[in-house]
Amino acid sequence: MRAYQSEYQQSIQHPETFWAEQARRVPWFKPPETILSYDEHGHARWYADGELNTCHVALDHHVESGRGDQPAVFWDSPVTGGRRTLSYRELRDQVATFAGALAGLGVEKGDRVVIYMPMVPEALVAMYACARLGAVHSVVFGGFAPHELAMRIEDAEPKVVIAASCGIEVDNVIAYKPIIDKALAQSTHQPAACVILQRDQAQADLGSIDHDWQVLVENAAPADCVPVKGTDPLYILYTSGTTGKPKGVVRDHGGHAVAMHYSMERIYGMAPGEVFFSASDVGWVVGHSYIVYAPLILGCTTVVYEGKPVRTPDAGAFWRLIAEYRIKAFFTAPTAFRAIKKEDPDGKWLEKYDISCLRTLFLAGERLDPPTFHWLDDLLDVPVVDHWWQTETGWAIAANLQGLEPMPIKAGSATVPVPGFNVQVLNRQAEPAADHEQGSIVIRQPLPPGCLAGIWRDPQRFHQAYMAAFPGCYLTGDGGYFDEEGYLFIMGRTDDVINVAGHRLSTGEMEEVLGAHPAVAECAVIGILDNLKGQVPLGLVIPKDGYNGDPQTLEKELIAKVREQIGPIACLKQILVVSRLPKTRSGKILRKLLRTIADGNEFSMPSTIDDPTSLQEVHEHMMSCEVGASHQARQV
Ligand code: COA
Ligand code: AMP
Repeated sequence: MRAYQSEYQQSIQHPETFWAEQARRVPWFKPPETILSYDEHGHARWYADGELNTCHVALDHHVESGRGDQPAVFWDSPVTGGRRTLSYRELRDQVATFAGALAGLGVEKGDRVVIYMPMVPEALVAMYACARLGAVHSVVFGGFAPHELAMRIEDAEPKVVIAASCGIEVDNVIAYKPIIDKALAQSTHQPAACVILQRDQAQADLGSIDHDWQVLVENAAPADCVPVKGTDPLYILYTSGTTGKPKGVVRDHGGHAVAMHYSMERIYGMAPGEVFFSASDVGWVVGHSYIVYAPLILGCTTVVYEGKPVRTPDAGAFWRLIAEYRIKAFFTAPTAFRAIKKEDPDGKWLEKYDISCLRTLFLAGERLDPPTFHWLDDLLDVPVVDHWWQTETGWAIAANLQGLEPMPIKAGSATVPVPGFNVQVLNRQAEPAADHEQGSIVIRQPLPPGCLAGIWRDPQRFHQAYMAAFPGCYLTGDGGYFDEEGYLFIMGRTDDVINVAGHRLSTGEMEEVLGAHPAVAECAVIGILDNLKGQVPLGLVIPKDGYNGDPQTLEKELIAKVREQIGPIACLKQILVVSRLPKTRSGKILRKLLRTIADGNEFSMPSTIDDPTSLQEVHEHMMSCEVGASHQARQV
């Protein structure tokens, strides 16, 4: 571990020197003199007096330095049959023109723009156009319902909303315009304009504030990059917290550009000119960092894929993409491979393609479970690298650094902390845990460049959610341990956040939706194990006294309500109507115990339980409804 140790130690002991050197790798309009400073809340800020523009770093700079004809984007859309290649010059020109169009709608530096788009190149054009103007984009994932979109619009207060007329799922065209109209009807904030990219699969009817994307760009003059400070916001990305209100994670231009560049080289081992494919969605952080920004910041080609791992049209889709676009590094979530493994357990589809170009497979978004790891490891001749990160950090906290010093892989471990992240595991006494002792994973201040600069307009929430638990440390919300060789094992969330098919969701938010139903007296939502999606939510509800409707009707209504309020992505497909929930004597629902039983694990009756028969009742109910592996749960 010599190269790694030396770089890691330098980054922790001399962060300013380390990150000053890394900052020299990206083109600034005015290089920063102040490398690290602290804001009024005591949070680390990087490159406060530097000036740059992320769009210039990722596009104009490369065109100016001879990369203009290189492909920047390969778009591949099996759901529409579409394919397109955009060179750096073409992308830069489209972005400049669209930025001009946005400027024509009054968008200026600091204004917010909400983007609700599927995986089309125009999503990247829209994001970069905002960056070019110094406007702050907030991309909302297409699987979210109008209510979720409305909450984000109210919080971000965008001047403009940019959307496509539709998104396309496997066998389903989802019209976006009605979703936007409903969201705007629910929102107290109204944008001045909406720009709609019309797609052939479902054209939208345009209203008085709507503009057709094509018409708008035909009449627009290109706009230049607006210089912004290193600490000026590039985007807000909302993510699930423990309450019903999502958290607007703010990312800045300077730290982000430096971190993206560093991570592409050191973590992913990429070089300019190579092809990188991240199979995620622009609506998630993985999409922001490793579809849209990082590959282009380094001068690579990014693959934008509008399709699924299976059924578009088959389980060989990823192998086809790797072979066709000569992809060097591929990044997705383990759930995608569980879906492939289910349809093609022997990897027969792989035999059809020459994927000798592939150097490394990266996985993140949820724990890489050892069975999936071993399946992939047996199937492929390349390292299968798990790495751990979150929306807040924007890049990996722990990884096996392929461009620094690849290390032996241990199944179930995300390997070692990435330079810049001073990761510690703390026990209940807030002391460093011993090797193999599980505890809360924290990152000591300063967080490295690229991590969240705050929660949009809510410094108090930033402090409460992340900084209050262990002074001087950022609380990741994940639990885990180090082994004797310094390998980090992530064991899952310590809060009410669950991970469904690599998507982060809040059980607290689902409880709010269920609890708002007039027939529900009390409820709990827990994440239970699922072979395909890792976890899925399970709702348990107690009807109000006097409710004498049919429990099955209530279950259906509640499932529909969550889908309508949060979106199909919530995947809440099972609700149990129960008469009691197990609680402590102080009235807290024993959620962890419910999870243990649903997952079929051994459990013991806690001494603090108020009424042991309530637990037996729920257990029997779970077994009769065939919930998870509850039939295997055994009291010890
Ligand atoms: N717009 C609208 N609806 C969407 C959507 C989008 N962008 N993405 C998903 N949905 C819908 C799906 O159609 C599905 O609807 P349904 O209940 O009517 O079938 C629902 O949301 C749940 O979607 P998902 O959890 O993705 O399940 P799935 O069965 O469609 O696919 C996988 C399962 C594993 C194939 C899929 O989740 C996947 O490819 N995951 C990769 C992981 C990933 O991209 N993670 C991002 C972070 S790295
Ligand atoms: P998100 O913010 O949506 O990226 O979700 C972040 C959360 O996903 C983390 O806090 C973890 O709980 C989980 N996660 C992401 N990557 C991993 C990983 N490699 N191993 C374990 N958990 C992970």
